[in-house]
Amino acid sequence: MPLAAITHAKAWIGELFSQSGGSHDAAHTLRVYRTAMKIADTEKACDRDIVALGALLHDADDTKLFGTVGNANARAFMEKEGLSQEMQDRICNVINGVSFSHNRGKVPETLEGKIVQDADRLDAIGAIGIARAFAFGGEHGRALEDTIAHFHEKLLRISGEMQTAYGRHEAAKRHEMMVRFLEAYRKETEE
Ligand code: ADP
Ligand code: NI
Repeated sequence: MPLAAITHAKAWIGELFSQSGGSHDAAHTLRVYRTAMKIADTEKACDRDIVALGALLHDADDTKLFGTVGNANARAFMEKEGLSQEMQDRICNVINGVSFSHNRGKVPETLEGKIVQDADRLDAIGAIGIARAFAFGGEHGRALEDTIAHFHEKLLRISGEMQTAYGRHEAAKRHEMMVRFLEAYRKETEE
């Protein structure tokens, strides 16, 4: 029996991200949710409700998009849904362990945190990762070459930092896709 809060969260993020661009929109959150549930299917020990709500709320207080502090958006939503303090704390713990930029080198302590972090990272690599990186570059007025640099600084390192077996397997395929793209890009643009 899925929690009503999960259904409600899917609708709520649509409103929350209505002003956000292609690199960080509601569709990103929904993909992270779907991928996280696929990983959860392979990690029997996890709490699926925590994974689902952690994924759906993981960017609700992203500092690049919102000026909130202390998971204020996520907490307000969960409070309205009547979730217990204990459940809210567990979900916030998952959310706060996800961000790549804020957690360089840190591994989430809980299985649910590892699952949501892997799902978020998978969305930054492969074909979807390429699309999001160039969307981000466009939103920030960057030259194409600056986004190519971002692949070397960050995106090509992600597949080596996955925490679940499903994540590692899927990341290897997506990594390969980026390597092929970068090679084709280099050939097409070299002088
Ligand atoms: P997180 O929210 O997990 O910390 P980011 O906000 O850094 O992740 O990244 C969100 C998306 O924007 C990712 O797809 C990432 O590749 C892209 N992105 C972030 N920084 C850059 C950049 N300098 N150039 C191109 N894409 C970027
Ligand atoms: Ni995200």
